[in-house]
Amino acid sequence: MQFEDFAAFEKDGWEHVVQSYEDYFGRLTVQSHPALLDALQIGPGTRMLDVAAGPGNLAAAAIERGATAAAVDFSASMIAHARQLHPEIEFQIAGAEHLPFDAESFDAVGVSFGVLHFPEPERALEEAARVLRRGGRVAFTAWAAPERAVGFGMVLDAIQVHGKLDVGLPPSPPFFRFSDPEECVRVLTEAGFSDARADEVEQTWHLVLPETPLDGLMHGGVRMAALLRAQSKAALASIEQDVRTAVKAYSQHGELLVPMPCVLASATKP
Ligand SMILES: C[S@@+](CC[C@H](N)C(=O)[O-])C[C@H]1O[C@@H](n2cnc3c(N)ncnc32)[C@H](O)[C@@H]1O
Repeated sequence: MQFEDFAAFEKDGWEHVVQSYEDYFGRLTVQSHPALLDALQIGPGTRMLDVAAGPGNLAAAAIERGATAAAVDFSASMIAHARQLHPEIEFQIAGAEHLPFDAESFDAVGVSFGVLHFPEPERALEEAARVLRRGGRVAFTAWAAPERAVGFGMVLDAIQVHGKLDVGLPPSPPFFRFSDPEECVRVLTEAGFSDARADEVEQTWHLVLPETPLDGLMHGGVRMAALLRAQSKAALASIEQDVRTAVKAYSQHGELLVPMPCVLASATKP
């Protein structure tokens, strides 16, 4: 596998950020779940698989629509937490590249903010296609480009000015690859799906100062957190200062409302 070290780095990382992921990103990523479930055509009786489920919020939202749901994530601690939150869902510890399900056992496969973390997204889409019935739907979300998902943009801009982007992390697939709707459509089509499309969905990060997107990225994830932790103390202080200045444009009544749109891609198994 091309990104073997990255795969191990991500797997270890996600074991250690369960609560902070939920604290910083739980209420943000659920904002695109209604659109994701619509794209998957989830309704009463649909059987859905939530891949890279994290706390399991997508599967839980599917059940609220009358669907049945199974969910997988490769992080044992994420799954333990998800089971506590949603005891009604069938959770399993599994990688997106090796799904522990028979062929054609689902009507829909959803991946909410997972594909950008996969070392082999094409392999994961192949697996999604295998477990889907004919006519079944696949859909995934990924962050929009940092110019649009400005919580990322302001932190990355500040790193470029005061710190460094090359800090010796394992080589990885590009974080913003699936921010490009055309790339999403291309990858889905190449994986054998039909009717692929990709559209942007609005999301807003609600934060209360003194917290800024820097805190979310530093504590709530893996790759960006490692990039930030690798900066020198002086660089990090300057990065923090720049981000504090940049967020002023998004302050409303003591709250920060930071645009964090995503790209929602979907397709059908022919
Ligand atoms: C950004 S979180 C998304 C969680 C949830 N789907 C959501 O939308 O809030 C990414 C999740 O993907 C999981 N993950 C990353 N790579 C994976 C892989 N190759 N196979 C299965 N799960 C993976 C992580 O453990 C983490 O829970």
